[in-house]
Amino acid sequence: MANILIAGCGYIGTALGSLLAAEGHTVWGLRRRPAILPPDIRQCAADLTSPGTLCALPPALDYIFYTAAPDTHDDVAYRAVYVEGLNNLLDALIRQRQHPRRLFLTSSTGVYAQTSGEWVDETAPAEPTEFAGILLREGERLLLDGPFPATVLRLGGLYGPDRAGLIEKVRRGEVVGGGESPVYFNRIHRDDAAGALRHLMMLQQPDSLYLGVDDEPTELIVVLRWLAGALGVPPPWQAESSPLRMPRHGSNKRCRNVRLTASGYAFRYPTFREGYAALLTEQAGAC
Ligand SMILES: NC(=O)c1ccc[n+]([C@@H]2O[C@H](COP(=O)([O-])OP(=O)(O)OC[C@H]3O[C@@H](n4cnc5c(N)ncnc54)[C@H](OP(=O)(O)O)[C@@H]3O)[C@@H](O)[C@H]2O)c1
Repeated sequence: MANILIAGCGYIGTALGSLLAAEGHTVWGLRRRPAILPPDIRQCAADLTSPGTLCALPPALDYIFYTAAPDTHDDVAYRAVYVEGLNNLLDALIRQRQHPRRLFLTSSTGVYAQTSGEWVDETAPAEPTEFAGILLREGERLLLDGPFPATVLRLGGLYGPDRAGLIEKVRRGEVVGGGESPVYFNRIHRDDAAGALRHLMMLQQPDSLYLGVDDEPTELIVVLRWLAGALGVPPPWQAESSPLRMPRHGSNKRCRNVRLTASGYAFRYPTFREGYAALLTEQAGAC
């Protein structure tokens, strides 16, 4: 059984931690407010941006997952978490003479700046033009050029329990989707993000880079219409301009998960249909 640290143990990190703890691994969740972690994850109170708080990491770590996310969407917060925080953790591991077998970083498909709806895989150029993608790329390089074996998983947009606000919006008829040219969104259910990380940890020799997205990049309007059908409410209408029309980073591409699936990972929710259907069933059960 392995000794595992999840640095930035939030939405994905907690799902991953509970998955690994249930298999008998020892799991530490590092965050500034660890008291809210579930009891199966051991608390490690630290601030990644404050090196002094990283002096006493749990000893003899086998695997480390870096799943921290900034509090705000700005240059300073992104640099603090994805570059400085990661650098601080690497320094602390070196100073404490730790020899982890591998580190994993959750990056984002936002590092791809492609705009024409083209298919993208791990070999495609990742040349972001805005600060979030640029700083994520800097963090990726820091990790991959660093002293430990490392793997980056570039995730699509996360959805899942507690992150299914789209359902309520469609139910209330609040959303507008569309526009004439298709804009594709790449997504992954929380449990598949956690499942893929666990899967990569179990591989003898994982690659250094994987895309973590489901099988079907989809236009948002397609998801909205499917949800409206499932909920039995009128379908959202098309509009030329909609706040939901473009991903925040303004790119438009379809990400492939072939490397991840070829490595043996089987998606629990291969498309948004299975993922949202499960969320709707959970919601109905909770009523
Ligand atoms: N959300 C998405 O749609 C999406 C898409 C693509 C990629 N990703 C990537 O996936 C990863 C995880 O996302 P998520 O949604 O699971 O994140 P999240 O729930 O927002 O969790 C981030 C965690 O990081 C901790 N944290 C933040 N700053 C910290 C610091 N200075 N020191 C220690 N801990 C800190 C926070 O806990 P405290 O506040 O207690 O410190 C929080 O629990 C991120 O790397 C993100 O970039 C997310």
